[in-house]
Amino acid sequence: MKSAKAKAHTNIALIKYWGKKDPKLFLPMNSSLSLTLDAFYTETEVILDGNLEMDQFILNDEIQGEAETTKISNFLNLFRQETGILTPAKVTSQNFVPTAAGLASSASAFAALGAAMNEVSGMKADPTTLSTFVRRGSGSATRSVFGGFVEWQMGTCNEDSHAIQIDDASWDIAMVTVAVNTGKKTISSRQGMQLTVDTSPFYASWVETAATDLVDIKQAIRNQDFQQLGEITESNGMKMHGTMLGARPPFTYMEPTTIDVLAAVRQLRQQGFEAYYTMDAGPNVKVLCHLSDSEKIQMKLKEAFPNNPVIISKVGGGIELLS
Ligand code: PMV
Repeated sequence: MKSAKAKAHTNIALIKYWGKKDPKLFLPMNSSLSLTLDAFYTETEVILDGNLEMDQFILNDEIQGEAETTKISNFLNLFRQETGILTPAKVTSQNFVPTAAGLASSASAFAALGAAMNEVSGMKADPTTLSTFVRRGSGSATRSVFGGFVEWQMGTCNEDSHAIQIDDASWDIAMVTVAVNTGKKTISSRQGMQLTVDTSPFYASWVETAATDLVDIKQAIRNQDFQQLGEITESNGMKMHGTMLGARPPFTYMEPTTIDVLAAVRQLRQQGFEAYYTMDAGPNVKVLCHLSDSEKIQMKLKEAFPNNPVIISKVGGGIELLS
């Protein structure tokens, strides 16, 4: 029996990934850029055990059923094809994402699983190559291989659609999450992006302007220009949400409280805080701000939304092998 354990953090995109040009290979329509978060992560152990008849998957101490286990097996098969090592695996995963945060954990989940399998199977791919494997578990997981600001370069094929670190983001940066609704969403990101690609007349301009947003945000990162970074983040996130209103049928992840939180963040700016919002495929709001302001911002948002958890995260690092 061989085993390896790895840890990966989740990430929040500042330039969003929204839409696949190859759904099977998870090749995206546009390149994206994210910030890795320290507060939310997954730890996963993979044990290769010849005595097992098939893969087993235990998540947060619960044995998972066939549908969830098949997803894991399909992902592990990518490594098996590469290495020829077919031994069944016991996968034990723990999500350290406060359930109250309402954040998706697929990014940290597939990055941690990929890192553990990369080790235990002896594949030992370098992190950039590993990100091309991880991508096929969940697109956003591609970026969780690295820490700080990370770009997922869309590339042209399986081998070159990968992540690279742009900057370690060690310049007074944090993200504050306001949880609006932590229940299961009705439209998954996979369904939502496909419907948008297929039906929204706004989609073409999304793809076009996401490309220029990416060039501009990388310039802002190089210059450590926080205002530019925040303004581009806010605009890009809302443009992604705009494409959904153009879909047929139209849909939105925003809830009434979401709109109130967005207004509260704009108000924080009027009070002099550099704070900018973004949202993913759900109603929760993430606020990009200075780490040195984050406790004050948390306090103000808690005052305004006493029923909603407000969680600070520092910048997180890349995948780590724990054993
Ligand atoms: O790869 P998924 O299914 O987690 O999709 C991610 C989609 C967004 O979170 C909305 C954007 C992003 O780039 O993370």
